[in-house]
Amino acid sequence: MTVRRSVVVGCGGYLPEKILTNDELAQRLDTSDEWIRDRSGITQRHIAAEGELTSDLAFAAAHSALGAAGVSVQDIDMILLATSTPDETFPATATVVQSKLGADNAMSFDIQAVCSGFVYALATADNFIKSGQAETAMVIGAETFSRILDWQDRGTCVLFGDGAGAVVLKAEPGQGTTADRGILSTHLHSDGRLHDLLYVDGGPSSTGEVGFLRMEGKEVFRHAVVKMAEVTVEALEANGLTASDIDWFVPHQANKRIIDGTAKKLGINGDRVVVTIDQHANTSAASIPLALWVATRDDRIKRDNLVLIEALGGGMTWGSGLVRW
Ligand code: COA
Repeated sequence: MTVRRSVVVGCGGYLPEKILTNDELAQRLDTSDEWIRDRSGITQRHIAAEGELTSDLAFAAAHSALGAAGVSVQDIDMILLATSTPDETFPATATVVQSKLGADNAMSFDIQAVCSGFVYALATADNFIKSGQAETAMVIGAETFSRILDWQDRGTCVLFGDGAGAVVLKAEPGQGTTADRGILSTHLHSDGRLHDLLYVDGGPSSTGEVGFLRMEGKEVFRHAVVKMAEVTVEALEANGLTASDIDWFVPHQANKRIIDGTAKKLGINGDRVVVTIDQHANTSAASIPLALWVATRDDRIKRDNLVLIEALGGGMTWGSGLVRW
C-alpha cells in the first residue's frame, strides 16, 4: 500500500542574542539561582531585544529550516505558525512571516494551543499533506513570552524565555508501516474546564489589553506528569510500538522534573531524552522545534531515527507525535 507521509526534510531555529541568567533575575526579584535550578532545571533564558517581534524570530527560524531542507521558498504551499504571542491581534503572524520569506505560493495561518502549539501545528500540517491539500509545509513555533510575563511574579517569570524553531515537511510516498519516514501519528486533546490553571488575564474581547500570564504551578505540574505520560503511551500503542523502540524522546521543555518524571514513567533512559530547558527555559510553542534543531545540529537525531514528541499547555491542551526522521 502506498500512503502519503509528511517527512521532515529540514529543521531550523533561532534564539535572541540577549541571555538573562538566574543570578541576574535574583538581583531584582526575591529568588535565587539555586531555587530556580532545583525546582525547574533552568539556568538561563534568551530574551528578545526591544523591537524584535515574534515574526522576526519565526522568520529567522524558518529561514534556517529552509536552508537545511534545501527546498525553494516558492515550493512552500503552507505556513503554520504556532504562537500565543502574535505580533498583533490580527492578521495572523504567519502571514507576516510569509511576506518576510517571500513565500508567495503559501497559505498561512496561526495555531493557538499555547505550549502544545507546535504539536497541534504539526498535526494540522500532516493532515493537510495526507489529504493532498499541501505538498510542502513550513511549521514554526515562535514566542516572545517575555512580553506577557509579570516580572514581579517570581512564581512564573523565572520559568519562561523567547525563541523560535521550525521544520519543513514534504509529502513523500510510504508503505503505511512504522518503518516509513515521516509523521507516523499525532494525538491531540484539550479540556477547557482547566482554564484557570494557566491563562493570560487579558485579551481583545475581555479587557482590551494584552494581559499577563497567570499560573497555578503545582496543579499544572500534577496534570503535566499524568497527561504527558498518557498521551505518549497512546502514541506508542496506536503504532504497536514500545518505549524501547524510541531513539529520541523530545518533550516540551517546561520543567526538568516533569521531563524526568515522564521519561521515568515511560522507561526511557535519560541519555535518549533531549533536554534544552537548562539553556532556553520554557519557550512554549517554540520549545520542541528548538530542541529538535539542537539535537539535529549536534547529530544526535539522525535519518530513520524514531522521535517521540509531547507537550501540554494552557487550555489545557496536550498532545503527542511520533516521527520517523
Ligand atoms: N524563587 C524562590 N521562591 C519561590 C519562587 C522563586 N522564583 N517561586 C515560588 N517560590 C516559593 C513559593 O512562594 C513557595 O513559598 P511558600 O512555601 O513560602 O509559600 C515555595 O517557593 C514553594 O513553591 P511551590 O509553588 O510549592 O514550588 P514547586 O515545587 O511547586 O515549584 C514550579 C514551582 C512553578 C517550579 C512548579 O510548580 C512547576 O514547574 N509547575 C509547572 C509549571 C509549568 O510547567 N508550566 C508550564 C506548563 S506548559
